[in-house]
Amino acid sequence: MGAGQCVIAKVFSKIFSHEALETYLPKIQLVIQDTLRVWSSHPGSVNVYCEAQKLTFRLAIRVLLGFRLSDEELNHLFQVFQQFVENVFSLPVDLPFSGYRRGIQARETLLKGLEKAIQEKLQNTQGKDYTDALDVLIESGKEHGNELTMQELKDATLELIFAAYATTASASTSLIMQLLKHPAVLEKLREELRGNGILHNGCVCEGALRVDTISSLHYLDCVIKELLRLFSPISGGYRTVLQTFELDGFQIPKGWSVMYSIRDTHDTAPVFKDVDVFDPDRFGQDRTEDKDGRFHYLPFGGGVRNCLGKQLAKLFLKTLAIELASMSRFELATRTFPKVMPVPVVHPAGELKVRFYGLDSNQNEIVTETEAMLGATV
Ligand code: HEM
Repeated sequence: MGAGQCVIAKVFSKIFSHEALETYLPKIQLVIQDTLRVWSSHPGSVNVYCEAQKLTFRLAIRVLLGFRLSDEELNHLFQVFQQFVENVFSLPVDLPFSGYRRGIQARETLLKGLEKAIQEKLQNTQGKDYTDALDVLIESGKEHGNELTMQELKDATLELIFAAYATTASASTSLIMQLLKHPAVLEKLREELRGNGILHNGCVCEGALRVDTISSLHYLDCVIKELLRLFSPISGGYRTVLQTFELDGFQIPKGWSVMYSIRDTHDTAPVFKDVDVFDPDRFGQDRTEDKDGRFHYLPFGGGVRNCLGKQLAKLFLKTLAIELASMSRFELATRTFPKVMPVPVVHPAGELKVRFYGLDSNQNEIVTETEAMLGATV
């Protein structure tokens, strides 16, 4: 690991500190509200997975990197990024038109776009009222007496977007699907929000969202935990064996690559009853099915290489759930729900088409919660 990379590893943890999350929260809320307004103003249905991908990309660009791009520039960068992601796991054969080649080209185009945005950011330091993750990255590099090079900044930026993008889009889509499938869960969530003075007449009260307030919402926490148990976006990870060890009578030699499975762990951990049922109450204070053992529940991986962005991811998903709960209605636009595919991340096999109503550009037309409970309409 180079000195620059070492610094990056140290400052990544600063990017996701409690203090930093508090700064990001109003921006996260704004990006989500804007997106839900656009979805609601759509005359037809919304392809949720595709739109959730755009939402998380926008989140990464605006909240984490603080780039001020026009919608047109943002859409262009998103298309290039999608091409990069789609081809990232292609075979490493560098033939013209092969996925690998397209992936490399997309990466280069992306890095050029990022360089332009970073340069603009470095030049426009006046009148800034918001500190984003990239600012922290740049400043912390200086603090550690090791100013990051443009290449290191670009790589770290791309790593952040890449790590946040597919996982969070997957979880956001699963969240919407599960709230549609389980109106009682959504209603219980609304009750919790109302009880804590966060919802008033169906709207999130201004200034009501703070990191500590969100953390104190127990039922919301159970919903997100259960979502990430049953629909953990990533199926597992790889590790290199540093020291030969024995497992169930098998010797695993030093130097081997081993895979740990998040999904199999969640499916087989004896602590969970009725593993296939979406039941947020399993994490409630009466049952706390996750209390035994450290490694039964690991949507964000385990050990030293676990997910650095997990607090941000949870904060984003919780804010999305709060904003969805405060909307008047959203309903499935097809007769049945699409099947769910597990790889490369959990996602709907077909399109998850949903109609959103409620928040118009003036935040009008919020109907009462009783009207909102109609079959798969929530
Ligand atoms: C629901 C959303 C997310 C899930 C389920 C998730 C899950 C994971 C998992 C399982 C790993 C470890 C992989 C392994 O064992 O090798 C990981 C690593 C990582 N994640 Fe996340 N992640 C999410 C969101 C995010 C976000 C929003 C960010 C940043 C903005 C992020 C940044 C990272 C980074 C930087 C690593 C690499 C850590 C290292 O190698 O030391 N993740 N994530």
